[in-house]
Amino acid sequence: MDPSELKKIQIAVDGYSACGKSTLAKGLAGRLGYIHIDSGAMYRAVTLFAIQENIIADGKINKNLLIRKLPEISIKFRLDNDNNPITYLNEVNVEDKIREIEVSDFVSEISAIPEVRHKMVAIQQKMGENKGIVMDGRDIGTVVFPDAELKIFLIADINVRTQRRYNELKSKGYDVDFEVVKENLMQRDKFDMSRSESPLRQADDAMVFDNSDITKEEQLEKAYKLALSIIENEN
Ligand code: CDP
Repeated sequence: MDPSELKKIQIAVDGYSACGKSTLAKGLAGRLGYIHIDSGAMYRAVTLFAIQENIIADGKINKNLLIRKLPEISIKFRLDNDNNPITYLNEVNVEDKIREIEVSDFVSEISAIPEVRHKMVAIQQKMGENKGIVMDGRDIGTVVFPDAELKIFLIADINVRTQRRYNELKSKGYDVDFEVVKENLMQRDKFDMSRSESPLRQADDAMVFDNSDITKEEQLEKAYKLALSIIENEN
């Protein structure tokens, strides 16, 4: 049975920083023939816009200016030749730039601004209105798709998460320090959990996956089987 030909569902993948949400979401979408959206890339693109427009200067964010300039921001995803979604900010490919540590340093503060969230959530809900989508982030199961048929909440040990992000950045040629990466992940988790607007939290009906000690292939297999059983039930 080809799941892409059956009635489609929404899948939400939430969790802490660098615990493999995008890897799982991408793999799951690939196997199901669904769209994958990395909602974090959208908040990162807004942050990059703020840096480029000098809305962030001397370590401070001019929130009112950013809110005024929000209508100037367009974020789109286009597929590359390998079917990977590439983030475009105002028609420019920013996929690599948004992963840099400077963006990571400000993204949690930017994404705590209610006006920023309202704009992103509206775009995300539009992307998911026809279902057949796997979206990863922090508030997908709680706010963006509260009725998602499958919600997964990922957790992993902080040192495992740091090592993965460190390896990822190193492989892209960035000269990063393990402790700096770890500090950024811990700071963002703290900030994301404690903000008043859509804080990071596990949805009551989410399935928790701890992937500290399992491979990404094992995790994907487990999630895929779960998704298939839900899809079969819905059809
Ligand atoms: O890849 P990583 O887990 O490190 O982060 P990300 O998914 O790229 O998200 C970057 C930041 O965007 C997070 O630390 C959150 O502050 C924010 N974010 C959010 O507030 N809501 C989402 N749905 C996704 C990301």
